Amino acid sequence: MKQDMIVILDLGSTENTVLARQLRHMGVYSEIHPHDITVEELKALENVKGIILNGGENRVVDGSPIDVKEELYACGYPMLSIDHPGAKCEKQLDALPDEAAMREFIFTDCQAQANWNMKNFIADQVELVRRQVGDKKVLLALSGGVDSSVVAALLLKAIGPQLVCVHVNHGLMRKNESESVVEVFQNQLHANLIYVDASERFLDKLAGVADPEQKRKIIGSEFIRVFEEEARKLDGIEFLGQGTIYPDIIESGTKTAKMVKSHHNVGGLPEDLQFALVEPLKQLFKDEVRACGLELGLPEGMVYRQPFPGPGLGVRCLGAITRDRLEAVRESDAILREEFQKAGLDQSVWQYFTVVPDFRSVGMKNHARVFEYMVIIRAINTIDAMTATVEKVDWDVLEKITNRILAEVEHVNRVCYDMSPKPPATIEFE
Ligand code: XMP
Repeated sequence: MKQDMIVILDLGSTENTVLARQLRHMGVYSEIHPHDITVEELKALENVKGIILNGGENRVVDGSPIDVKEELYACGYPMLSIDHPGAKCEKQLDALPDEAAMREFIFTDCQAQANWNMKNFIADQVELVRRQVGDKKVLLALSGGVDSSVVAALLLKAIGPQLVCVHVNHGLMRKNESESVVEVFQNQLHANLIYVDASERFLDKLAGVADPEQKRKIIGSEFIRVFEEEARKLDGIEFLGQGTIYPDIIESGTKTAKMVKSHHNVGGLPEDLQFALVEPLKQLFKDEVRACGLELGLPEGMVYRQPFPGPGLGVRCLGAITRDRLEAVRESDAILREEFQKAGLDQSVWQYFTVVPDFRSVGMKNHARVFEYMVIIRAINTIDAMTATVEKVDWDVLEKITNRILAEVEHVNRVCYDMSPKPPATIEFE
């Protein structure tokens, strides 16, 4: 890491990430570390220019106030303490400083350079990955989501043919999604890509299963099984690439967060298939991951892709999945996305999709009675997916989408719009 760094020590603040983002926004790289970091650990971080002790409401743990280790105060780095009454250092503030005060600290007191940008980040990571991996191979599960796509592009730049990507099509992808992964990574970027069409296998396992949790479990464990089978066919793989990003690491706020998450992601891979992890995005926030993807030349559609659940359309084809209803979800979702794009809503609405319930209603087509399925449209906005509000979609846009779904999607005679915020509803239906 050649870029200058300001270290934020978490002394109970709820605003560590706000501060880290503020510093990065000013062009100076910043990382959050636990308050009990040792001087040795601090010195092992490269290019530290200063330290911010970031205190706050969670400063008391088990009845006693927390503080940094005594010797840290004497280790010579410029320090700023915010809302940390126990601090013994030069600059003490009660609240987050304004931009001018923060600039003075990082650029005058710490003499940091504003050299945090995506070009430098990519150059650093390319070098670090090459150093870590040597001439060995890295295996990567490439779902086509933002994080795995950006990791793939970065690793490709770093180690080219030593990267082996596996894309598992579980048959629950959106329309043309697997095709676009193959087009971008195999045809355009010439990555080593193994495409596994496991659609039939997943649908067979899911046949007749209506319970949402059971469906999720089957999809998750079958995914690991398919990935594992592919991994066993390959020789000389020593590393597993992962799209772990910074919020994954800091969310739990503990030193062990990285371990837990990585472990969790590797999921049920058996003991004899344990790989060392390569996680080049683990210092990036989501918007930085996107900027990194653009800098690496990935298409905008891939980089700004809306969130899509791991179990895919499986949780939007409600109840026991059938092929005709799954196709109805896929086709109606494609129409919705196309019309949202035409109406300029695709980048402003946070998430939008369709679901198809497992019951039918009476209708009329070509003067004859029909008994068919309905499509429910959902479009929501949120900051963090914990709560959500419903997008007030223009009536004409809704009407156009409805008419197209009714005309173009088989087995459907009714379209509804979901008006429910979260809570009490969740964003997905299952
Ligand atoms: P809910 O339905 O819990 O969804 O309000 C919140 C957000 O999480 C997404 N979601 C998932 N994402 N794997 C994922 O990666 C999953 O299993 C999963 N389930 C829900 C959902 O699309 C929404 O953005």
